Amino acid sequence: MTILCNRIDKDYMMSEELFSQRTTTCGALTRADDGSRVVLNGWVHRNRNHGAVHFINLRDRYGITQVVVDDDASKDLEEIAASLRLEFCIAVTGTVRCRPDAMINSEMATGEIEVKAERIEILSSCPALPFQIDDGTKTKEDLRLKYRYLDLRSQGMQQRMKLRHDFILSIRNYLSARDFYEIETPTLIKSTPEGARDFLVPSRHYPGKFYALPQSPQLFKQILMVGGMDKYFQIARCYRDEDARGDRQLEFTQLDLEMSFVKRDDVLTLMEGLFVHVFKEVMDHDLPPTFRRLTYAEAMNTYGTDKPDLRYDLELEDVADLAARSTFSTFKEIVGNGGFIKAIRAPKSETVDFSRKYITSLEDAAKVYGAHGLAWMKVGEHNTLAGGVSKFFEGLEGEMIERMGASDGDMILMVAHADWKRCCASLSAVRSTLARDLGLIKKGFEFCWIIDFPLFEYNEEGGFWQAAHHMFSMPQQEFLDTLESDPGSVLGDLYDLVLNGYEVASGSIRIHDVELQKRIFRICNFDDETAEQRFGFLLNAFRYSPPPHGGIAPGIDRMVMIMAEETSIHEVIAFPKNTAAVSPMDDSPSEVDQKQLDELHLVIKYPEK
Ligand code: AMO
Repeated sequence: MTILCNRIDKDYMMSEELFSQRTTTCGALTRADDGSRVVLNGWVHRNRNHGAVHFINLRDRYGITQVVVDDDASKDLEEIAASLRLEFCIAVTGTVRCRPDAMINSEMATGEIEVKAERIEILSSCPALPFQIDDGTKTKEDLRLKYRYLDLRSQGMQQRMKLRHDFILSIRNYLSARDFYEIETPTLIKSTPEGARDFLVPSRHYPGKFYALPQSPQLFKQILMVGGMDKYFQIARCYRDEDARGDRQLEFTQLDLEMSFVKRDDVLTLMEGLFVHVFKEVMDHDLPPTFRRLTYAEAMNTYGTDKPDLRYDLELEDVADLAARSTFSTFKEIVGNGGFIKAIRAPKSETVDFSRKYITSLEDAAKVYGAHGLAWMKVGEHNTLAGGVSKFFEGLEGEMIERMGASDGDMILMVAHADWKRCCASLSAVRSTLARDLGLIKKGFEFCWIIDFPLFEYNEEGGFWQAAHHMFSMPQQEFLDTLESDPGSVLGDLYDLVLNGYEVASGSIRIHDVELQKRIFRICNFDDETAEQRFGFLLNAFRYSPPPHGGIAPGIDRMVMIMAEETSIHEVIAFPKNTAAVSPMDDSPSEVDQKQLDELHLVIKYPEK
């Protein structure tokens, strides 16, 4: 048995006798400890009373041990046992004994033994609980977040915090063994636009000046490469003032990583090795040694999204040529104007009836992404199509059914749109809805790389081009001459890692040339003067022989969320903000004293109601 040390409150020590400090944990005792005298410390998880006998389930981080106060207990002990309420923190001194065979609980690690209590001390008590611990899913999230210290005691949160710890430790060990240095970069930096809004920190010393919290260590990691650090990583906190969602937080954690003298495949191979190792070490899960690679165009055309969930098939097909030969005037017109028609096959289902109502629910999912409607036809026996728009496809049934790989009982669903992205995205929403409703999502972890992304995207509102990822990514060589003349067709040396339909990492090979970097800034609407003001420190560093370099940043929260089979990153963060960007426990954000504002030279201008 290990002797464990606890930090002891000084006043408590002065005023009381030293509490009975644990000699072992609540998850450690087995049959082999039969007869040992032990001290356990922990929380009352359950307290059942069978006549004069009390069964107390005592819980700590390591497990649960059943403590028994027998009917031969002293009156004092019996009274203390009777006074225990759920979650009281107690110390139990007693003797381990094997349970009778009929009482063995094979579900519990300590299920073969119990501890016969000789002494119980109440170390601290609590009022009635706001919710039952371990009842996480039924309790409203804000209540869980307000009393996060209670919520953290639940088995689920404890397991997820361990998973997160194991994941990060395994990453650290893997990278350290491969010559990476872990280097911290500052969290008070110059405001440098990276895509989201910056969180700003006013400077007390310099009225009117601000630090920004980093959206990521992007520029600093590149400068570390200029500084010859060669291989860097950091478990980095990032801050982005954007709307919180299930897989987004205002502050989150990345494994940030950068390497010198590398090409894209070096980064991809390193990451594959890392995740294969970490999944095996942390979850005993075997990943394939390499992950599938799809170009952005392939991913969009085949799955309708650049974050495809490959746990199920359901591929999209281009049916524009068939639609053009049909008698469906709406489709013909869209194709005639250079638009797009894509289709997906909904496989025959035992559980879901492809009723009008169900098709309308799929249509609603598609409309969120811009579809004007969802055309459908049902596949019958002997290459026949029925219902919906089937009458327009007379004579084309065989070709359509073959193209879709469809058979009797399947349904074919089609979206037509002038805009390729909207056409893809709408059918992607249908794809994921079908997979969920038809129960097609297999268990497990399906990684894939998405490569060859466009470097720029057009900002319709602002009327200018902006970086699709960030402005420091290298255009692919063959587009260097046409950056300015045709930004829309430029592909970047960019890559995303996707896991089960979530983007879990993004990265790129970087620009390391001042002139090329300036060209990119100009295309993204930053003239030379503004670029010098904002990014002068990076450009200066690039004047001093920077190495070619590249890197990537997996989001730790998202990865752990998926590994834990959760759908919200809140479940894997000890103290997350809620979806309204508030922390119900410490009430942040909160107002500050006038004195603090004065020191920072700030005057608050409240928005008009
Ligand atoms: P990017 O902005 O794509 O790239 O972020 C990389 C990864 O970080 C995670 N992530 C988030 N997780 C939780 N909440 C958020 N608000 C949030 N935003 C991003 C995602 C994402 O894939 N500096 C570049 C990386 C690089 O080029 O090396 C960057 O930050 O998992």
